[in-house]
Amino acid sequence: MRALLTSLKALAPAPIKRAWRRFRTSPPAPAQPERGRSDETGAISAPPELWHLVGAADADFIRVGQGFKSLFLDAGLKPHHALLDVGCGIGRAAAPLVDYLDENGRYAGFDVMSEAIDWCRANIAVGDPRFEFLHADMHSDRYNPGGTQPASAYIFPYPDASFDYVWLGSVFTHLLAADQAQFAREIERVLRPGGVSIISWYLIDDEARANAGEGRAAFDFAHALDGCWTATPDLPEAVIGYDLQAVRDQYEALGLDVLNQALGVWRREPLQDQDIIIARKRA
Ligand SMILES: C[S@@+](CC[C@H](N)C(=O)[O-])C[C@H]1O[C@@H](n2cnc3c(N)ncnc32)[C@H](O)[C@@H]1O
Repeated sequence: MRALLTSLKALAPAPIKRAWRRFRTSPPAPAQPERGRSDETGAISAPPELWHLVGAADADFIRVGQGFKSLFLDAGLKPHHALLDVGCGIGRAAAPLVDYLDENGRYAGFDVMSEAIDWCRANIAVGDPRFEFLHADMHSDRYNPGGTQPASAYIFPYPDASFDYVWLGSVFTHLLAADQAQFAREIERVLRPGGVSIISWYLIDDEARANAGEGRAAFDFAHALDGCWTATPDLPEAVIGYDLQAVRDQYEALGLDVLNQALGVWRREPLQDQDIIIARKRA
């Protein structure tokens, strides 16, 4: 190649030779940050004005996403794995996986909020076949009041046994019981045998009940619904809790063996950190 360029240059008349020299010595144009990536760190981040869509408006996108990634890695996620992110929001979990998953790895996320999915599609791993974001137009009083499909009948648009990991970050904390039960069946279906679910919850146990009455817990799940509880009766899907034992029974019935149950401090302090259950589908 170099020999070819040298010989082409030798053939050029003088003005072209000068231009060639300028061309050869001019510094490379500064690289434009990829869409969605911040100039300073190169990390992908949604603009702060979108953060309110997925909870606390001051919860930093990059820091929260790195926390999710650590959780996945601790649970055994490898670069070649396929992960489904149910209720992916503005892609806080997707962003740190762009540089982690290898060419065999795969990420799929879906959400009821079209604004969030539009942002993900336009800014995270654009044109990268490993990443897919889907708008699912399910009804949610809290997140998609105009949605047309009931979540209680939604079939995840993926084949059986197609994911190594399924992640739900603060999604079952917003689903009514019939919707949650359908999603749990679908999670089991799309996980491959030996695959792992990582799900956050508000799980109501004796401590949560006792402290709620005393005003110490972050939420008082005092309002019974059909199969779950809400702390916000005016808009039930704003905060939903489930009985811990009923949830454990559901995992057992679905053939998902609980590997780890980490109970959050929300039950004893006014902090919203959630409970997390990691479970493996029986092989
Ligand atoms: C608190 S946000 C968490 C978003 C994301 N998992 C994260 O941690 O950044 C709850 C998300 O659940 C989504 N959601 C609510 N109901 C849903 C449903 N039936 N199916 C899929 N996503 C849903 C909301 O649109 C919202 O993005």
